[in-house]
Amino acid sequence: MKIHTKSVHAGDRKKPPEQIPVTTPIYTAASYISARQEELDRIFGHELEGYSYARYGTPTGAALEELVNSLENGHGAQACASGMAALELAILAALVDRPKSILAAEAIYGATLNLLVRVFEPLGAGVRHVDIYDLEAVERAIAAHKPGCVLMETISNPTLRVGQIDRIAAMCKAAGAALIVDNTFATPLLLRPLELGASFCVHSLTKYLAGHGDVLGGIVICDEAHYETMRTLARTNGPALGAFEAYLAMRGIKTFPLRMERQCANAARIAAWLESHPRIESVIFPGQSSHPDAAVIARLFPPGLYGAMVSFRIKDAAREAVFAFIDRLKLVVRATSLGDVHSMILYPVISSHREMSPAQRQRLGITESLVRLSVGIEDADDVIADLDQALKG
Ligand SMILES: Cc1ncc(COP(=O)(O)O)c(C=O)c1O
Repeated sequence: MKIHTKSVHAGDRKKPPEQIPVTTPIYTAASYISARQEELDRIFGHELEGYSYARYGTPTGAALEELVNSLENGHGAQACASGMAALELAILAALVDRPKSILAAEAIYGATLNLLVRVFEPLGAGVRHVDIYDLEAVERAIAAHKPGCVLMETISNPTLRVGQIDRIAAMCKAAGAALIVDNTFATPLLLRPLELGASFCVHSLTKYLAGHGDVLGGIVICDEAHYETMRTLARTNGPALGAFEAYLAMRGIKTFPLRMERQCANAARIAAWLESHPRIESVIFPGQSSHPDAAVIARLFPPGLYGAMVSFRIKDAAREAVFAFIDRLKLVVRATSLGDVHSMILYPVISSHREMSPAQRQRLGITESLVRLSVGIEDADDVIADLDQALKG
C-alpha cells in the first residue's frame, strides 16, 4: 500500500482487546462497519441492536443514557446537546399524537419560556400559562384548554417553588395529556418525576449531574409509552450529544450523589446564616418551615435534602447596589449556570429572566433586589465569609 492509503487505514478499526476497559471509552466514530450488509439492514430496521451512525446512537451516549435512566427509574433516555434541546425533544414527543397545545407553569426558566414563545407558538401550538402551585387553577386550565402536555419544573427557577407533581400527573393522565417535568434543580437524589406519574423527565446535564462546569448537555428520560416516539424523533431531529460530552457527563455523575448531599447541607447552612443577616430582606430556600410549599416539600423530598439553590433579596437594593454586591464577591463565581462544584451567583433580572416583562417578573417575585445563589461543595464557612464581606461593602 502507498503512503496516502496507509495514512488513512493503517492501525485503525482494530478489534478491541478481550479485556474490558474499566470506564466507557469515548467513541467518536460517525459511522460503524457491519460484518455483512444483512446485519446493517437489520440494525437500520431495528430488528437487531447495534450501531450504524452516530446521530442514531453511540456506545458512549448509550452508556450515559443507561446511567441517567437508571437514576430516574425511567424506561429509556435520549442524551441531547443541551438542556434546551432536551426540552424541545420532550415537548415534540409529547405532542406528536396529541392536541398541539401546551399548558406551562408561569414560574419557569426564561429560555424555556422563549422556547414556547419563539418556537412552538409560531409553529401553531397554543401556549397557556398557569399558576402550577394552585391545583384548582391547574384543573380548570386543563379542562378549559385541553393541553397535549403540561410543562413544569420540580423546583422553579429562581423563586424555588415546589409543585405537586403526583397530583398534577394524575390530572394529566385523566385528561390524556403528557406531563413533562424539568428536574434539573431537584435532581434524582431529591425526587424522580416518572415515579410520580410524569411521562417525561428532562435535565440540563450541564448542571448538577455533570457538575463541574465543563460540559453542555441535556437528557430526556421517559416512560415506555413515549420511548419509541422519542427515539424516532431524535434520530430525525438530530439533537444527539457528542461522545466527548457524553463521557464528561458520565464521569461527573459518578460523584453526583456525594456532591449533591454536600451541596444541600451547605445550602441549608448558608440560607440560615442569610436569614439572620441585617442586610437581607428575605431568603427563599425549600428547607424553610415558612416556605409556601413546605407541606409539599415534606411529602415529596427526603428529609434534610432540599436542593442547593438559595435565592435572597437584599434590603433596599436596586440594580446598582446588587451589581456592587456581586462585583465585590471574591470566591463565589459571578457567572451564569448552576449546580457546579463551585458556588455561583446570578442576577435573574439581567440574565435568566431578562426577556420577561417587568410586570410578569414582579408577579412572580423576581424583583430587582433578588439574587440566586447556587451553592457548591466548598467549606460553607468560606462561602459565608465571602458573602459577608460583599454585603458589608
Ligand atoms: C431549569 C433549567 N432547565 C433547562 C436549562 C437549559 O439547559 P442548557 O443550558 O443545558 O441548555 C437550564 C439552564 O440554565 C435550567 O436552569
